[in-house]
Amino acid sequence: MPTDAEAYAPMTPAEVRALRDQLDAQGKKLVFTNGCFDLLHAGHVRYLNEARELGDAMVVALNSDESVRELKGPTRPINSENDRAEVMAALRAVDAVVVFGDKRATSLIETIQPHIYAKGGDYTVDSLNPEERAALDAAGTAIRILPLVPGRSTTATVQRMTHDGGAGRLRIGVLGSGEGSNLRAILAAITAGALQADISVALSDQADSKFLQIAREAGVPAIHVDGGANPRRFDDAAQKEIAEHLQRAQVDVVVLIGFMRILKEPTLSLYADRIVNVHPSLLPKHKGANAPQLAIEAGDTETGCTVHLVTAEIDAGRILAQATVPVLPGDTSEKLHARIKDQEHKLLPQVLAEWKK
Ligand code: GRF
Repeated sequence: MPTDAEAYAPMTPAEVRALRDQLDAQGKKLVFTNGCFDLLHAGHVRYLNEARELGDAMVVALNSDESVRELKGPTRPINSENDRAEVMAALRAVDAVVVFGDKRATSLIETIQPHIYAKGGDYTVDSLNPEERAALDAAGTAIRILPLVPGRSTTATVQRMTHDGGAGRLRIGVLGSGEGSNLRAILAAITAGALQADISVALSDQADSKFLQIAREAGVPAIHVDGGANPRRFDDAAQKEIAEHLQRAQVDVVVLIGFMRILKEPTLSLYADRIVNVHPSLLPKHKGANAPQLAIEAGDTETGCTVHLVTAEIDAGRILAQATVPVLPGDTSEKLHARIKDQEHKLLPQVLAEWKK
């Protein structure tokens, strides 16, 4: 019986071309994708499963050790090309693996002439490497960009492992009720390495919120806390439950992002000076709900967003940072709020990145 290493040995480019021709003769399609796949994580697996769905078989072109070093620096790859190839070939979505030594996949594309080329979503068709793009166009290959899976990256995994097993990183607990766009921005900053933190728990009073969905998809423990019968209040049992979840997750800082209920004791005392909120106005102006609408009605030419500490008094704790946004003629509350949120998405991760534990 062959060993796993033999059974999953990489193919030569010529063998992959033969596979492509065989599929072609049957009216089937070969998908091609390439990358380093150094520390395999769920984001990779999900991406590969989606890419495989685009055709009938898939080949993964793996960067050789030398080309990974060139692309990612001297500390990478963590796993050798043989091991990476073996792991990759064992995946359900992968039919063939080929290792390539160039920084670009151009000559492989020319040899293999795949039917479909799949790439992870930090690219657009226009931002592909021009040489690779020309080779794809010449081969008549269809280009498909797939969305990146949020919250997962090899860089973030390596960072988690090298900071005292995560002990040096900020542990964030988030509370939200709505869209979760700020949560997405925090996750993106973590993935990019701009924020040395982990989201340890996400809590929401809304079971079906996008906020909880985003957390779940990013692998963050996502918990619905039932606020009780009155939709405007958050009863004592729920207040206590929130504090317990935050403590269990050992969070250093609590972030309220669009959390529509009022946070009270015991969390306020347990996390005094360690709870932040983001509000869509230049506080102390326009406290409470509908702040963008209030700015329009007041005839303000400028508004913005504020990140501040949370106290028992609503929208009144110490201001940590603000960013301004113009109010434009013809602005609706929605348009203005969207412009404010763009700033929130930068400001909130910045404040957290500077947070001292
Ligand atoms: C933000 O505008 C924030 O200022 C306010 O609620 C909104 C939350 O948006 N407190 P999202 O859920 O992060 O998209």
